[in-house]
Amino acid sequence: MTNAPVLGIDIGGSGIKGAPVNLETGETTAERLKIATPEKSTPKSVIKVCKQIVDHFADQIGDGPVGITVPAVVMHGVTRSAANIDKGWIDFNAEEEFSKKLGRPVFLVNDADAAGVAEVKYGAAKDHPGLVIMTTLGTGIGIAIVHRGVLIPNAELGHLEMNGKDAEKQASAGVKEKKGMSFAEWLKPLNQYYTMLENLLWPDLIVVGGGISRKHDQFLPKLKLRTKIIPAELRNNAGIVGAAWLAVDHLKHPDRVPVDPEPVSADPQLKA
Ligand code: BGC
Repeated sequence: MTNAPVLGIDIGGSGIKGAPVNLETGETTAERLKIATPEKSTPKSVIKVCKQIVDHFADQIGDGPVGITVPAVVMHGVTRSAANIDKGWIDFNAEEEFSKKLGRPVFLVNDADAAGVAEVKYGAAKDHPGLVIMTTLGTGIGIAIVHRGVLIPNAELGHLEMNGKDAEKQASAGVKEKKGMSFAEWLKPLNQYYTMLENLLWPDLIVVGGGISRKHDQFLPKLKLRTKIIPAELRNNAGIVGAAWLAVDHLKHPDRVPVDPEPVSADPQLKA
């Protein structure tokens, strides 16, 4: 493989963003392209947007692979849940469809997992020798568990039960915004959530990403936790960078568990 930049695409609730990434440095090599997420974010409509992004950067990425994030569980190329996107993603053979439509190898990964990998490879937790938990605070709560540089994929711990309800429906940045909570009001559910997380996983470091992490000085220093907690460094580009890194890593290690021809559907809670 040449050293051409590798395209990463991040599928979010409001925008689908892509940019080529230099994997030596973890930097994007061109201005990223952002296209609004279709109102109905079905796999078909999202693939169309991804095709536009691939075409836009075609000159730079050659026939290389593309890494793509989705806000869903991705098991061996199949999306299994859809907490904040169209339900059409549940049990969708996404990687195969994307590869066909985009005409190149595609690697699909959970959005928080991609961000976590990016922060450990290039960002706030670069080369960390222990257990790092990445948390993305957005519409939902995304979690990545990375131990000594190795990702344990699909930790859906944003959906831990807290006060008898889904934690992300109480502590996400989306809920803060929807309910018009001040930072002081948000601290209570947030602190409760992170306490639960550190008591269950005993991480060495927690990294906080998502748009709201830009305002980290307004809430991170006020959390009362045992674990060191720091803001993400790659911010907006973490998903793109992590997805690109993982796409190449997957080409190097293509062996994987075969796709179950009769998939067991995801936990109904994740579909809510
Ligand atoms: C989803 C996760 C996702 C997170 C952040 C949650 O609702 O279940 O898969 O990583 O939101 O988008």
